[in-house]
Amino acid sequence: MRPEPLVHPPAAPTTPAATAVAHPNIALVKYWGKRDERLVLPRVDSLSLTLGVFPTTTTVALAPGTAHDRVTLDGAPAEGEALRRVVAFLDLVRDRAGIAHRAVVESENTVPTGAGLASSASGFAALAAAAAAAYGLRLDAAGLSRLARRGSGSACRSVFGGFAVWHAGRDRADPAEADLASYAEPVAVGDLDPALVVAVVDAGPKPVSSRAAMRHTVDTSPLYEPWAVSSRADLTEMRAALLAGDIEAVGRVAERNALGMHATMLAARPAVRYLSPATLTVLDAVLRLRGDGVPAYATMDAGPNVKVLCRRPDADRVAEAVRAAAPGSRVLVAGPGPGVRLLDGDGR
Ligand code: DP6
Repeated sequence: MRPEPLVHPPAAPTTPAATAVAHPNIALVKYWGKRDERLVLPRVDSLSLTLGVFPTTTTVALAPGTAHDRVTLDGAPAEGEALRRVVAFLDLVRDRAGIAHRAVVESENTVPTGAGLASSASGFAALAAAAAAAYGLRLDAAGLSRLARRGSGSACRSVFGGFAVWHAGRDRADPAEADLASYAEPVAVGDLDPALVVAVVDAGPKPVSSRAAMRHTVDTSPLYEPWAVSSRADLTEMRAALLAGDIEAVGRVAERNALGMHATMLAARPAVRYLSPATLTVLDAVLRLRGDGVPAYATMDAGPNVKVLCRRPDADRVAEAVRAAAPGSRVLVAGPGPGVRLLDGDGR
């Protein structure tokens, strides 16, 4: 019998790869408008709740020797603007890591893409975590949040579970300093047991991207600046309401902030209108619930779908009322969800 070698031969070299899972977040104080398009620096602070539904799972594997990134979204090759954004994001990571290798990216979304349900938030949060790990960037949570921001602004909040605030930061002469000052972090909350009832009244892709719509709104809407000013006050009130565990105040501020954001778009020239007749029907149902003494408050993003904030014990009743108001809609109850995480090799 041959003796065991003392030094084992090195394992075959493996190509670095990493998989991450992230969840979408819904803003209760909205991000709408950038002050720097390249760095994705917002004009206002925003605050969100990360959901426990619709995760995105993304794998990034380095592909030495290949000439292009290969990106697959939900089983189909990415193209056009979607591909361009992922490649630009990978370029940023490569630049920071000092590694030129192209990558193979595979991403599975369980949220209807492009329907105002924050698929870009979960998508870029998962991509940021997987790409940072695959390319060997060592980042703390704030650093990962800054990186995710560069892919899609709202993604910086999905790095964290539960409630998170995204600091807009201030203008600095040095872009690196401006970048450093804009990131998300968890928010202190009191005794709150929230649920978001998500009413998917239309799962089709939106006609105008949120990126284009917010640019157009900032450029042309006379209501944009007044909303941005009132949004700062909303954030202060929202933080106090969360700390106090006051769901009514949280909901009141969230609903007015969202309706104000949509008002800025309706006043843009020409108008951008995401809200549909089905949206308004759900808003009526929410008003009726409040009339019946159930604290329920609505928020809408860049699409017609409605998310209704309520207490978790009321969520089934709220879901039933929303279902009755919008027959044919997919209605589901979401609770707070976790921040982004890397899966180990066994998919855990
Ligand atoms: C209405 O984060 O999708 O959902 O930074 O251009 O990628 P980009 O925009 P995105 O905008 C989200 C806008 C919103 C409000 C919010 O999530 O705060």
